[in-house]
Amino acid sequence: MEKYQYQLILKIVSLLLTVKIAFGDWCSSQDLEGLIGFKNGIQLDTSGRLAKWVGQRCCDWEGIVCDNATTSGTRRVTQIHLPGFISTDKDLFRTQMIGHFSLSITLLTSLEILDLGGLVGLSGTIPQTLGMHLQKLQKLYLYGNNLTGSIPESIGKLQNLQELAIHENRLSGSIPSSLGALRKLKSLLLYSNKISGTLPLSLGNLTNLVELDLHENSINGHIPNSIGQMQNLEKLDLSSNLLNGRIPSSLSNLTFISVLYLDTNNLEGTIPFPSRNGGENMHSLGFLRLNENNLSGNLPFNFGQLVSLQRVSLSNNKLEGALPSSLGNLHHLTEIYLSGNFFSGQIPKSLGQISHLIMFNISKNLIQRPLPKEMSNLQNLQTIDLSFNPLNLTSIPEWLPSLLSLSGIYLAGCGIQGRIPEVLNTIKSPIQELDLSMNFLSGSIPSWIGSFSQLYLLNLSRNSLDSFIPRSIAKLRNLAILDLNSNRLTGSITEAFEIEQDSTGGSLTYLDLSHNNFSSGVEEIGVGGQFNIQFLNLSHNNLKGMLSSSLGRLKSIHSLDLSFNKLASNLPEFLANLTTLEILRLQKNHFSGNIPNAFLKLRKLKELDLSDNVLEGEIPEGEPLINFPGSSYSGNKGLCGKPLAPCKL
Ligand SMILES: *[C@@H]1O[C@H](CO)[C@@H](O)[C@H](O)[C@H]1NC(C)=O
Ligand SMILES: *[C@@H]1O[C@H](CO)[C@@H](O)[C@H](O)[C@H]1NC(C)=O
Ligand SMILES: *[C@@H]1O[C@H](CO)[C@@H](O)[C@H](O)[C@H]1NC(C)=O
Ligand SMILES: *[C@@H]1O[C@H](CO)[C@@H](O)[C@H](O)[C@H]1NC(C)=O
Ligand SMILES: *[C@@H]1O[C@H](CO)[C@@H](O)[C@H](O)[C@H]1NC(C)=O
Ligand SMILES: *[C@@H]1O[C@H](CO)[C@@H](O)[C@H](O)[C@H]1NC(C)=O
Ligand SMILES: *[C@@H]1O[C@H](CO)[C@@H](O)[C@H](O)[C@H]1NC(C)=O
Ligand SMILES: *[C@@H]1O[C@H](CO)[C@@H](O)[C@H](O)[C@H]1NC(C)=O
Ligand SMILES: *[C@@H]1O[C@H](CO)[C@@H](O)[C@H](O)[C@H]1NC(C)=O
Ligand SMILES: *[C@@H]1O[C@H](CO)[C@@H](O)[C@H](O)[C@H]1NC(C)=O
Ligand SMILES: *[C@@H]1O[C@H](CO)[C@@H](O)[C@H](O)[C@H]1NC(C)=O
Repeated sequence: MEKYQYQLILKIVSLLLTVKIAFGDWCSSQDLEGLIGFKNGIQLDTSGRLAKWVGQRCCDWEGIVCDNATTSGTRRVTQIHLPGFISTDKDLFRTQMIGHFSLSITLLTSLEILDLGGLVGLSGTIPQTLGMHLQKLQKLYLYGNNLTGSIPESIGKLQNLQELAIHENRLSGSIPSSLGALRKLKSLLLYSNKISGTLPLSLGNLTNLVELDLHENSINGHIPNSIGQMQNLEKLDLSSNLLNGRIPSSLSNLTFISVLYLDTNNLEGTIPFPSRNGGENMHSLGFLRLNENNLSGNLPFNFGQLVSLQRVSLSNNKLEGALPSSLGNLHHLTEIYLSGNFFSGQIPKSLGQISHLIMFNISKNLIQRPLPKEMSNLQNLQTIDLSFNPLNLTSIPEWLPSLLSLSGIYLAGCGIQGRIPEVLNTIKSPIQELDLSMNFLSGSIPSWIGSFSQLYLLNLSRNSLDSFIPRSIAKLRNLAILDLNSNRLTGSITEAFEIEQDSTGGSLTYLDLSHNNFSSGVEEIGVGGQFNIQFLNLSHNNLKGMLSSSLGRLKSIHSLDLSFNKLASNLPEFLANLTTLEILRLQKNHFSGNIPNAFLKLRKLKELDLSDNVLEGEIPEGEPLINFPGSSYSGNKGLCGKPLAPCKL
């Protein structure tokens, strides 16, 4: 009997415990209402998480974290984790929620973390009163959704906020100046929205900010000088906005900054990095204009103060003046993008000190020669782009072959003359990209080009090369982009289509041989093994003969331009097998006969030009052929039917 009583007591105790635990999973009725309100706003949840939100034990629900029961016994929801990307031990998969972001989220007044990032289809607005209610919030992730409206002014009341990630939405309006009150904020990500207006001065109050990313918006006005107060900033990305004016000199205060992207704005003036004791007027426009003529390049201002800088992009602005030689102090720098400005003078010798440099892009500026031979010290440099500067290089810099990591050489429009320099053949590093377009190169394409076994892109367009295409080009098993347009190349195009061993259908995806003097080889298209071509331009040559049915093997082709040649045959039916075609230009040839009915299979065609041939008969009636303008068919022998005049019976 005693034993029985003992067991009974145990049972009662364990029952009580269960009840206690069960009650422990209950959350406050206010939180429950908030969560159910949120759930009700969602029409579709492909993750299936919300479907399991039933009953009242919400602390038990997937994605919910509560605090421990207080004396009053109720538990509060402190975290909501429902990101679109779900990672398990095994894999990472993407889910979606489609629906409306419910206002009832503001009932969850104990929330510290709200993560609804990357759900794609969450729409509606950020509740205007969010800041009044979620006072404990530390992390707010609503990025990667479909949210509209503006960032609520009340957000400035979230005194505990450390991370605000609302990038990749459709938010508009301006950045509320109340944001500057978020003293604990470390990360502010608003990029890829439709935010306009100016940068509030108060932003400078965010002295704990480590990362500020506002790229891809429509923010205008100046970069406030107060930005120099963000002493802890490591990453600043304001690119692709409508910012104008000068880069504030206070930026040189940001000694921890490692990533600085200000490209694709309208910023102007010189890069104003004063020496620590220098006055701000020193780097006025006038001062630097004077120095434009002083090609020794020792400028008394100090870009080199940003000692933590690793990546900097100032491309596509209106910056001018010479590059400061203090650039050489930036020992951590790995990538410099200065393309598309008005930088002038010479590249400072000190550049050679940036031994970690991997990418140097100063294309489209006003840089003059000589290039400092100290650049030969850049033993980690992988890509150099000096294109379109008035460098008048005449030849390839002799130090180039000594750069043992180099894989990308971009020297378009640099005034290089004569034959393709033999010095390139002495390069030891595996060249992947070679762009010598828009120079004054003449003579032949050397057959040693076939020894660049890693070559992916070769652009020799707009020169005066006048040879055949060398056979050795077939050895380039990685070549994807070959642009030889606008030269005087002759002979057969066959070599461009050959590959040494037919395995995967060839690596070439882009082939432009237009504006040359090629006369044969059209029959070979698709025979040689290059079946993966997407873009093929053979226009403005002397090509004669017939198209062969092997052309029908180009199963990936999007754009085919054979215009301005002397091709003569019927329009072959097999062209209609190229159902991926979006652009087809055959004008100014001698194609004859009817347009095959099979052309109606070219459903993706957006542009068609068959004009100025000797075609006749009825244009097959149907999409997409009837959608093109009459000019697509004009100048033929006797085409009729839509969009031209009806055929006579
Ligand atoms: C809640 O209780 C558990 C176990 O009793 C403890 O490990 C945890 O730290 C507590 N959490 C908080 C937020 O107090
Ligand atoms: C975003 O919302 C708009 C309407 O505001 C809707 O047309 C669109 O389909 C939504 N996009 C997604 C990905 O849910
Ligand atoms: C923030 O910055 C603004 C402008 O720089 C300043 O006037 C204000 O006193 C600062 N403090 C607060 C709390 O906004
Ligand atoms: C530069 O940083 C100091 C703190 O180290 C700060 O007092 C000063 O205001 C900052 N200067 C500018 C121009 O922001
Ligand atoms: C050019 O710069 C050098 C060194 O900084 C200086 O000595 C010289 O006076 C400058 N010349 C002119 C014309 O500004
Ligand atoms: C250099 O920068 C320009 C402008 O941003 C860009 O178009 C070009 O592709 C860059 N060059 C390389 C080699 O990446
Ligand atoms: C470019 O260099 C060549 C050879 O040194 C010279 O003849 C020519 O005048 C220079 N052109 C320009 C525009 O400086
Ligand atoms: C080759 O260079 C020319 C001129 O620099 C440029 O316009 C063209 O886009 C380049 N071709 C490819 C495929 O990049
Ligand atoms: C084009 O090539 C032919 C030989 O196929 C040659 O006779 C002619 O001179 C070349 N034309 C030009 C402009 O180079
Ligand atoms: C083919 O090249 C010619 C001349 O270089 C050019 O005018 C034409 O637009 C190009 N075709 C396509 C489809 O890009
Ligand atoms: C078009 O492709 C189909 C299937 O690949 C093939 O059977 C047919 O012969 C081709 N038509 C022409 C005219 O080449």
